[in-house]
Amino acid sequence: MNITRHKRNHVPGWQRWFLYTAISGLILSGGIWMAYYWSLGGEMNESMPLSFMRNLMMIHGIFAYLGAIATGIFLNHHVVTGWRSRQQRGSGSSLLILFVILVGSGLMLYYAGDDDLRRLASLAHQLAGAGLLLSLVIHVGKRLITTGR
Ligand code: HEM
Ligand code: HEM
Repeated sequence: MNITRHKRNHVPGWQRWFLYTAISGLILSGGIWMAYYWSLGGEMNESMPLSFMRNLMMIHGIFAYLGAIATGIFLNHHVVTGWRSRQQRGSGSSLLILFVILVGSGLMLYYAGDDDLRRLASLAHQLAGAGLLLSLVIHVGKRLITTGR
């Protein structure tokens, strides 16, 4: 392995692509759901393709498990080494915080009985989803800018 890259907290290719696949699946399935939801009134109603949206959520749930595994893989080594290197702490920490919010609000979407609570969880979840994409672009983009690779 190239020593400079090793020192810079380089992520092995398979881990990176596993993460990108999981996040792409989450953003695509969540994003298409959001496009229907917001363009057709922002409240579940009969004009929405309800069974298609349910299937999207089934796919989303599968990618959510993959996303949790992919993030877990980063905790053991990457986060610890990255923190000690003092680089990209801000965007790295926001990735972690947003993952916790996504998992927490995702659980609330499953189990909240109360309608108002579910609506709040849904909004927080969608905002955190958009934030996750932004943080990842900043986190990885910074590396591309500083190393050119
Ligand atoms: C406090 C937490 C974190 C810190 C301090 C941190 C730090 C870093 C640093 C310094 C780099 C640049 C590596 C290089 O130049 O080769 C990097 C890259 C990267 N980080 Fe993090 N990171 C953190 C959390 C995370 C998390 C939670 C994830 C994913 C869930 C993640 C995913 C990545 C990816 C995909 C890259 C690009 C690596 C590559 O293309 O080789 N990081 N991080
Ligand atoms: C670790 C990441 C994530 C986890 C664990 C997760 C988990 C979940 C869970 C459990 C649900 C409920 C599924 C259902 O009602 O059948 C859900 C719904 C949803 N997720 Fe995610 N998700 C994640 C990331 C994302 C991302 C990145 C987006 C970005 C667009 C997103 C957008 C949505 C949307 C729009 C819904 C539907 C909300 C609703 O029913 O009101 N999720 N997610």
